[in-house]
Amino acid sequence: MSGLDTLVLLCRPGFEPECASEISEVAAAAGFYGYPRLDQGEGYVTFYVHPPATALELMETVRFRSLIFTRQWLACLPKLEDLPAKDRLTPVAEAAAHLPACAEVVADTADTTEGRELRGFCRKFVSALAPHLRKEGVLLPRKEKSAWRMHLFVLSGREIWLGVAPVKNSSAWEGGILRLKFPARAPSRSTLKLEEAWHWFIPKHQWDRLIAPGMRAVDLGAAPGGWTWQLVERGMFVTAIDNGPMNEDLMETGQVEHLREDAFVYAPAKPVDWMVCDVVEKPARTTALVIEWALNGWARQMVFNLKLPMKQRYPEVRQCLERIESALADQGGWRLEARQLYHDREEVTCWLAAPEIR
Ligand SMILES: C[S@@+](CC[C@H](N)C(=O)[O-])C[C@H]1O[C@@H](n2cnc3c(N)ncnc32)[C@H](O)[C@@H]1O
Repeated sequence: MSGLDTLVLLCRPGFEPECASEISEVAAAAGFYGYPRLDQGEGYVTFYVHPPATALELMETVRFRSLIFTRQWLACLPKLEDLPAKDRLTPVAEAAAHLPACAEVVADTADTTEGRELRGFCRKFVSALAPHLRKEGVLLPRKEKSAWRMHLFVLSGREIWLGVAPVKNSSAWEGGILRLKFPARAPSRSTLKLEEAWHWFIPKHQWDRLIAPGMRAVDLGAAPGGWTWQLVERGMFVTAIDNGPMNEDLMETGQVEHLREDAFVYAPAKPVDWMVCDVVEKPARTTALVIEWALNGWARQMVFNLKLPMKQRYPEVRQCLERIESALADQGGWRLEARQLYHDREEVTCWLAAPEIR
């Protein structure tokens, strides 16, 4: 489809350079050339795909889940500018006729103050736009299935990127953000990182098998216990490793053993189902720890954070992931995925699963 030559990628504000480096590298590896544009702090990057290839083809080739710093992506028409306040529906509908068939339309904004202030406008606009597009025959009836979802990426009432995302190769969450409610009884806010990691990496229908009651887990750098709390909520038995104090209510569940030991020295007496690690350390050291756990078969699944350095954040993450992949290359199909989650700040979260985890 012509005109769809720009990929718009949403990311955490401040991480536009990482998002841009990553898409340039991943696209080139898949045979797509182009150039990124970004403004620091805007919460998105545009990547212009050189013709004859299009952004649609790029999205059909690259696996969305392979991107670490992209929360959502859209193949867009040239940006709609100077939209008249009196009638935005007509120009948007005219442009939408150039998109692949969609049965659904949603609106995203950047994860910035200006973006958040536009959310009310977006809701109202989409609820007027959807019936208008259906009446004009530009949007399929709701009950029909389509491979594409129509997106508006709204910069202001006058400026909108209009495009599509593949339903099966994009984020299903508005703006690529999973908004979770903080559980009042959890000992720390970082509890949401582990919960979001599970939502992103493990399909919900596999939770009862892969995050199951009765499993044994080790939490490295556990205090005060936000991650341990999630494991306990799932009915697991947890060994919490930290010199710091654990939350008392959590200890009273009887499901937690607290050991004041060094995470980098501790070894479990018997293999466990899960190892999670939120220790604030240099990413290279965490990487070596994870490799040690995997090679010794100490855990079948791991969720761990790689804390990002001040500079060279993208190359550092790539290097750590490559080290893990090459260390486990002849170990028969370990799976490694990484993402900068919404609840992550200067870090990315990884999930590593043993070959028998399918
Ligand atoms: C970011 S906090 C963990 C927060 C925890 N995941 C939660 O949800 O409450 C990092 C923890 O790692 C611990 N830590 C740092 N170095 C460690 C080490 N070498 N061994 C064990 N714990 C360590 C710190 O004491 C701190 O409690």
